[in-house]
Amino acid sequence: MPMGVNHVSFKDLSTTQQELVFSAQKVMSKAYNIYSDYFVGASVRTKKGGIYSSANMENSSYGLSICAEVGAIQQAISSGDPEITTIAVCGGFNSENKGKTPTPCGRCRQLIYESSQISSIDLEVICANSDLSGIIITKISDLLPLPFGSKDLHLDLKIKEIKKRIKKSK
Ligand code: THU
Repeated sequence: MPMGVNHVSFKDLSTTQQELVFSAQKVMSKAYNIYSDYFVGASVRTKKGGIYSSANMENSSYGLSICAEVGAIQQAISSGDPEITTIAVCGGFNSENKGKTPTPCGRCRQLIYESSQISSIDLEVICANSDLSGIIITKISDLLPLPFGSKDLHLDLKIKEIKKRIKKSK
């Protein structure tokens, strides 16, 4: 297990962390999940204090399903508030599921990593099962070691320009 993966209780979280987890838990109920019956909610917090949330949306062409994390990150970007500091993900088969705590899929880890380059923060990732009895706190660098990113393409400076443009546009 990576060093920075911590299993904690909900009561050990700070008030702001708890608020984000509650918001991810709340949006789970909006999942469009007729193929898997699996509910996921994700909420992101930004440097400005914004919170953006989304649930998973499935598709009859299974591979086209959209994860909750994608929607939440996309909402922050589209709101002109792209600098994400923390993401909370809550999931399970129903609202009282004491099951395994879900962690973001591989594609979502890569998307969270992209956000970490935008905010220049090693994003905090809080994962919860649906009754909040199993909480994992970690960082994207622990979930996705040795990432491929904008630096590999010599484009890390371009992210700064784009970030300014997003923030300026009304
Ligand atoms: N899912 C997410 O929303 N996020 C993840 O990180 C993993 C999986 C969704 C996709 C699909 O709707 C359901 O969970 C079962 O895979």
